[in-house]
Amino acid sequence: MAFVIPGAMEEHISVGPSAPALVGTTLERHVLDRLRRTPGATGDFTGLFQQISLAAKIISSRVSKAGLADVLGLTGEVNVQGEAVQKLDDFANRTLVHCVEAGGHVCIMGSEEVEEPIQIPPQYPKGKYVLQFDPLDGSGNIDINASIGTIFAIHRRKSPGDGPGQLSDCLQPGRDIVAAGYVIYGSSNMLVYSTGDGVHGFTLDPAIGEFLLSHENIRIPKRGDTYSINEGNFTRWAPPVQRWVNWVKSDEGGRKPYSLRYIGAMVADFHRVLLRGGIFAYPADTKNKSGKLRLLYEASPLAFIAEAAGGAASDGSRRILDIVPEKLHQRTPLFIGSAEDVADVERFLAQG
Ligand code: AHG
Ligand code: MN
Ligand code: MN
Repeated sequence: MAFVIPGAMEEHISVGPSAPALVGTTLERHVLDRLRRTPGATGDFTGLFQQISLAAKIISSRVSKAGLADVLGLTGEVNVQGEAVQKLDDFANRTLVHCVEAGGHVCIMGSEEVEEPIQIPPQYPKGKYVLQFDPLDGSGNIDINASIGTIFAIHRRKSPGDGPGQLSDCLQPGRDIVAAGYVIYGSSNMLVYSTGDGVHGFTLDPAIGEFLLSHENIRIPKRGDTYSINEGNFTRWAPPVQRWVNWVKSDEGGRKPYSLRYIGAMVADFHRVLLRGGIFAYPADTKNKSGKLRLLYEASPLAFIAEAAGGAASDGSRRILDIVPEKLHQRTPLFIGSAEDVADVERFLAQG
């Protein structure tokens, strides 16, 4: 409401802005509003979100000065996936663990960078949630100043009691996720999350250090016009995948060939698909027999978001959210994005 000088009404003189609010909706406020509408909810969930968003701000600040802060390059170690660990992978992993472990909201964590489940140190209380994450997605992009991200998923603990969490708490299917999200460190920094009812995007305002609501209720278009895949793997794919890709870029039957877009960081490729439609795919190939992407840290959280936005995610024949993980670092083929585009690829794969 504008501040109006008494008596000035008739002259229409206003000395203040009539903006609806002083600042936009902060992430904290948004999560809190939702919580208040959930019967029986405690503040745990909001607290956990605050810790994740603090970690995201710390990581984004480090990413934005990567060239100055001696965080480019490798640590010299190899992670559980057999990949060279970037300094920023390691920094992001430690930041998330550090911001969350003392909060008392989670009983166990799982990280793409750590072989075993991450236990909460004995001095801290154990909470009712389970947090799993890919601390830095697209690490190949770090040294070239292209977009990278963080992906996370939150489940409720399944094991009884309030002691340390178990491996079984981590091995839950995506359909039981209570919230998932990702942060993209790009031309601007964004946090996108869903608790299953709508997908909402927040942009980090560096001036005040808060994520502010910028993309409310994101919906994936039913069909897109781009496909996103590492086509350099073409000769390693099974023939039905090759047939689908050849069809996607063909003008068969008068269709418009799709454009190819691929930056090599799933968060960034997925973010474009979420906003514009289309499909992101990482199929199995002769080198990566079960695909490359990790079910718990990459495929399931983004599948949860895709479905909450009206899209779909499949391993080629099964809904990603229905896959019950057997191993922490399990991989899966992935086709994710616009519902009609995912249905197309499933049809090709079913034909064999
Ligand atoms: P991460 O950096 O967490 O290991 O993930 C990299 C993943 C994913 O982000 C991306 O889509 C894919 O690897 C790219 O793989 P290719 O280089 O084989 O295309
Ligand atoms: Mn990743
Ligand atoms: Mn990673």
